[in-house]
Amino acid sequence: MNGLLRPDLLAGRAALVTGGGSGIGLGIARALAAHGARVALLGRRADRLVEAAACIERETGRTAIATPADVREPEAVAAAVRTCLERFGRLDVLVNAAAGNFLAPAAAISPNGFRAVMDIDARGTWHASRAVFDAWMRDHGGVILNVSATLHHGATPMQAHASAAKAAVDSLTRSLALEWGPFGVRVVGLAPGPVEDTEGLARLVPEPIRERFRRVIPMRRFGRIDEIATLATFLVSDAAALVTGTTLVADGGARLAGRTLGLES
Ligand code: COA
Repeated sequence: MNGLLRPDLLAGRAALVTGGGSGIGLGIARALAAHGARVALLGRRADRLVEAAACIERETGRTAIATPADVREPEAVAAAVRTCLERFGRLDVLVNAAAGNFLAPAAAISPNGFRAVMDIDARGTWHASRAVFDAWMRDHGGVILNVSATLHHGATPMQAHASAAKAAVDSLTRSLALEWGPFGVRVVGLAPGPVEDTEGLARLVPEPIRERFRRVIPMRRFGRIDEIATLATFLVSDAAALVTGTTLVADGGARLAGRTLGLES
C-alpha cells in the first residue's frame, strides 16, 4: 500500500466488503487487509472472489475469504455474514461497495433496468447492513461504510436510475447512523468522483469525452482506486471515531466543474 496510514491501523479487525471482487470494492478490501484486517469478499462471481482473495492473502499475509452472494438476495447475504462470523469470530466493518450501473436516458430505462440498479445499490446496502447489524453489530458495535457517488448532488444525464439509488444510499447513511449510533455503530459514506481503472469510468465516461472531462476537473485528473481505498481505511478506523451520518466527497473537485460529465455536448 502507499504507506500514508499506520500499517497496524486495523489490526485485529474483520471486514466484509460487498462488491469486493473487483474495482473500488477490491481496492478497499486490499487496503483494509494491508492495514491489518481480515477480509471477506462478497459478490456474485465466486471464481473472481476466490482469485481476488488469494491475491490479497499473497500480497498482505492476512486472511481473505470469498463469500459468494448476490446483494439482492437477503437470505444469501445473511448466510455470507454467518460464514464471516464462523471464520473470523467477529465482524467490525462492513463496506457496501456493490453497485450496478449503465448509461441510458430516462426515457429508455425499462422497469427492470431501474429495478436492477435500485436493487443492487439501495436494497443491497440495506440487506447487508441489516444482516451485519442483526448478527453482530447490535451487540458489539462496528462501522458501516457506504460507497456512494456525486451523480445525484445535482442531476446527471443518463443516470436517473443510479442517481435515485445513490440518493437512497446516502439517506440510509444518515438514518442508520441516527438509529444505530447508540449501539456503537458508525455509518459513513464515501462518494468518489470519476476513478481511473474502474468499470464505472469505462461504462459512464466514454473514451471520446474522457480527456475533455479531465481538463475541466479542478485537480485536472481522475481519482485512483488506491486513493479511495486510503480514505475508506481512514473512515472505518478509530481515527474517524467521531464521524458518522455523513458522506465524504473525494472527486478532485469534479462536482464543481459542472454537473454533466460532458455528456450533453
Ligand atoms: N441501457 C438500458 N437498459 C439496460 C442497459 C443499458 N445499457 N443495460 C442493462 N439494462 C437493462 C436490461 O435491458 C434489463 O432490463 P429488461 O429486462 O427490461 O431488458 C435490466 O437492465 C437488467 O439487466 P440484466 O443484465 O438482466 O441484469 P443483471 O442483474 O444481470 O445486471 C446491471 C445488472 C444491469 C446493473 C449490470 O449492468 C451489472 O451487473 N452491473 C454490475 C457492474 C457495474 O455496473 N459496475 C459499474 C458500477 S458504476
